[in-house]
Amino acid sequence: MSEIRFDGRVAIVTGAGGGLGRAHALLLASRGAKVVVNDLGGSRDGTGAGTNMADQVVEEIKRAGGEAAPDYHGVDTYEGGEAIVKTALDAYGKVDIVIANAGILRDRAFHNLTEEDWDKIFAVHVKGSFDVIQPAFRSMRQNGYGRIVVTTSNAGLYGNFGQANYSSAKTAVLGFASTLELEGAKYNIKANVIAPVAASRLTEDVMPPPALERLKPELVSPVVAYLCSEECQVSGNIFTAGGGYVGRAAIFESKGAVIPDMTIEAVRDNFGKITDMTGAEEFANAFEEVQKRLMAAQAAG
Ligand code: NAI
Repeated sequence: MSEIRFDGRVAIVTGAGGGLGRAHALLLASRGAKVVVNDLGGSRDGTGAGTNMADQVVEEIKRAGGEAAPDYHGVDTYEGGEAIVKTALDAYGKVDIVIANAGILRDRAFHNLTEEDWDKIFAVHVKGSFDVIQPAFRSMRQNGYGRIVVTTSNAGLYGNFGQANYSSAKTAVLGFASTLELEGAKYNIKANVIAPVAASRLTEDVMPPPALERLKPELVSPVVAYLCSEECQVSGNIFTAGGGYVGRAAIFESKGAVIPDMTIEAVRDNFGKITDMTGAEEFANAFEEVQKRLMAAQAAG
């Protein structure tokens, strides 16, 4: 089987100064990609900044014979996002790949969560994905090629105690990728989602050391790199990876019940059928799903 390579490709990896982003950047560079290593260099909760983290990873890539350029802008402003894309365009003339990976945590039980903790998490994870991907997407559209990976979390898929802000933000990127799938299709732009689990400074105090040792970021990066490759033909899909496991997650809808004479009691009486996931369906887009309800309305006359 031939090796998957990224020669001639230009990749932006946000939050690549440590953890998963660093591993993604090192892997892509080792397979020939020119990589913009973006990192604000702040702390785990999003405060502070510095150039050290991005510089170190660029050094590592160069020492291994790869090509990389550092970028220190925050993803949480539109100017920052544009500047990150400009770093790629100035250094390498184009953008083929964006991995929106930068992230922070501000965990608190919901009743104690502050508005600032909510807004900051959305600024980095949700707006931070938009800020970088939109200017990159415009350029990819012109070039007729692009690979985008956004980063969710099992907290975004399934919820997690103390993470109302983070889990909501991580769910937001699912809808984002589904729409980029539709808008990018004509231009050979694929947008997929990764839900990683790995040892990093974000998880160092939530899992015991023996578990962390087995959860190396390097076990997630090949999944992300595959999604960034020319060979990847799927789009709008969610992949869960960690510890050597990789799977696909998806949103399904039950076959449901058609109740022309809809009443509160009819909902109660049909609840088993409504929630029965036997034969559940996955839809390609919002329009396809709404057909189901239009057909029910038609049947009801
Ligand atoms: P990490 O803290 O090692 O890496 C995140 C990087 O993003 C840091 O280097 C940080 O400086 C950078 N960053 C933060 N705010 C930034 C900003 N405004 N602009 C640019 N860079 C910024 O954490 P880790 O674990 O590698 O996280 C990577 C991504 O994976 C995050 O989006 C995280 O939410 C997600 N994730 C990680 C999981 C895990 O098990 N480690 C689980 C689920 C999701």
